[in-house]
Amino acid sequence: MTKRLLTLIMLFTLSLKSLADEGMWLPQLLQTLNEKEMKKMGMKINASDIYNINKSSLKDAIVSLGGFCTAEVISDKGLILTNHHCGFDAIQNHSTLEHNYIQNGFWAYDTKQEIPNQGLFVSFIISIEDVTSSLLKNITSSLTEKERQTAIEKNIADLKKSYKKETYQDIIIKPFFDGNKFYLFLTETYKDVRLVGAPPSSIGNFGKDSDNWMWPRHTGDFSMFRIYADKNNKPAEYSPENVPYKPKRSLSISLKGLKEGDFTMVFGFPGKTNEYLSSYAVKQIATSSDPLKIEIRRNVLETMGSFMRKDEGIKIQYAAKYASVENAYKKWQGEVLGLNKSNAVQKKIDFENSLRNKISNNKDYMTSYGNLLDELSTAYGEIEPFAFARDCYSEIMPRIEIFNICSALNTFITNNKQKDAAANINRNQASIDKIDDIYKEYNAAVDKILFEKLMSIYLAKMNPQDQSTLLKQLLASGKDLKQISDDLYNNSLLNQPDSLIGILKNNKEAINILQKDPAFMLYTDIADAYNKNIAQQVSSLQSKINRLQRTYMEAQLTILKDKRFYPDANSTLRVTYGNVKGYQPRDGMKYHFYTYMDGIMEKYKPGDYEFDVPQKLIDLYRKKDFGRYGVNGRQPVCFIASNHTTGGNSGSPALDAYGNLVGLNFDRVWEGTMSDINYDSSICRNIMVDIRYVLFIIDKFAGAQNLINEMKIN
Ligand code: ARG
Ligand code: GLU
Repeated sequence: MTKRLLTLIMLFTLSLKSLADEGMWLPQLLQTLNEKEMKKMGMKINASDIYNINKSSLKDAIVSLGGFCTAEVISDKGLILTNHHCGFDAIQNHSTLEHNYIQNGFWAYDTKQEIPNQGLFVSFIISIEDVTSSLLKNITSSLTEKERQTAIEKNIADLKKSYKKETYQDIIIKPFFDGNKFYLFLTETYKDVRLVGAPPSSIGNFGKDSDNWMWPRHTGDFSMFRIYADKNNKPAEYSPENVPYKPKRSLSISLKGLKEGDFTMVFGFPGKTNEYLSSYAVKQIATSSDPLKIEIRRNVLETMGSFMRKDEGIKIQYAAKYASVENAYKKWQGEVLGLNKSNAVQKKIDFENSLRNKISNNKDYMTSYGNLLDELSTAYGEIEPFAFARDCYSEIMPRIEIFNICSALNTFITNNKQKDAAANINRNQASIDKIDDIYKEYNAAVDKILFEKLMSIYLAKMNPQDQSTLLKQLLASGKDLKQISDDLYNNSLLNQPDSLIGILKNNKEAINILQKDPAFMLYTDIADAYNKNIAQQVSSLQSKINRLQRTYMEAQLTILKDKRFYPDANSTLRVTYGNVKGYQPRDGMKYHFYTYMDGIMEKYKPGDYEFDVPQKLIDLYRKKDFGRYGVNGRQPVCFIASNHTTGGNSGSPALDAYGNLVGLNFDRVWEGTMSDINYDSSICRNIMVDIRYVLFIIDKFAGAQNLINEMKIN
């Protein structure tokens, strides 16, 4: 090979390499920062087709679902598509042993059968604006963190007051780049969102926890809802008079499928990432915080699981809680593995060393950032023991339901200390509703064992001087945790739902009674010990770290002039793009980028909790009755690509080069979950369910042609 050819090849691979898969980009900046690269990677539309405030664009079809997931409009009658696990709360709430929609699925064959969901909402983004200069007005570096916060809040309030908007619109202002920039989002929120369809869990959550965060995957993780509006098509509270919402834009669906290397993008609301942390922070996550939380959750899952396997009622009651505890539990394990395997800490150290070099070669940088990294190192050293105690406390307490009831009662008591009697009635009702909600998913036998297990971890992990005095006294009196929990669960009013709610409703003496309740007394003592010994220190050290991290971010933005930066995810609308491709999880192993229904049958275990398959699906498979959704006699199910996604991107549309809907994002691969901290394009992949599998299930499995007929399918 000639030298010239070699150089050319090298240049070519270099330029391919520098094409980013990494990044969660702001839609309004795509034109400036990304369009060229996106087109190079295969995109056939323009940035202005994705985000445009003057005419309808793809962004008008994307909604935040309840603030925790993403959904997209797929018909002109407000039909939206999201994940099964995003709609799961709704599906579970409407499920009983007689109408078990978790197990059997739910389909509305007529809009009249659609079910309202109190509290569920969707928000559209109307426009996004950089408001940094108005928000950082009068903010100087001499302010303390608290003063800075107060000044920014005042600027936000002023801006909100003067900002022109319609009455049905809202304004959200959020910090980006650790508070170096601020953007304003004008939103419209619809609060009448009804359940339209969900497959049985054996499809929507096929493979459950064993397959969660894993590839190869075969989950039909989707559900459907419909947005309702008032007769002027504007947002409205639930009313039987509301009508299906007419969107500015709905997505067209392509049945063409994708090949390896094809361009895809994911458009949605990623929740939280930490890509710009220092090595000190990453080390703390990988060696201390994640392992602790994993251990606590393992105990929680073992306990819940042992009851759920024996009792159908408990299985329904605890299903959502179990899934959510398990989800992060497994993710953190992948994260630790990935951080170690990709040498994330060393990479950060190398990066810091090169930055230190650049700083020391420039007088101005020296003045602003000369001590920055050393200060960060010291601050992480200082916070370490407190952060450990914080993680311990905040992982343990919410897993014990009787303590969650205590926390709601605390709010109830605080409310009643206030003078405004009329407002108190509403606040009290809110507390009672919250407690009622907790009881719906409460089983005393499960909670009691959780209490025993988790309190023993609390005693083992927290420094003795930071622990609850009352708990230590009870133990010193010769009782063990089992006896303490016997006393507590036998005698506490909190373990008697009807009496407790009755007292809260009728009895003015409620507060006196509560304050003598054994569970409430223990909760208060544990919380007081935490607030006194840990919370204050954590908060002041954390605010120091926040300031340093903001400066560290500023230093990176200032010094690395050639680098293109994207802000960490913060539940705002983002676009991420990449290519369809497999990966090598380990030496000698290569993963393909597509799965088919054949894989469902390979995993099939009759009667199994995770891998059972509905008979009707088996029949369709045997007859190869895939309709127009199959290819060459096979039915595609899931695929992977190098889009940089995170929690909150669930339910986000996967779009092809033309902006057509080709899949639904629902997960990432186990080996790549460290992408929240250290994205590595060789191994980080997002997992999507192929839109053809979704439509196959709706059409062939559920026979809901009414829904298919609403969609625009190419
Ligand atoms: N891992 C996915 C996400 O983070 C899916 C979670 C739902 N599925 C489950 N088996 N828990 O949300
Ligand atoms: N399942 C996640 C969600 O609910 C998406 C997976 C991820 O974290 O990337 O948002």
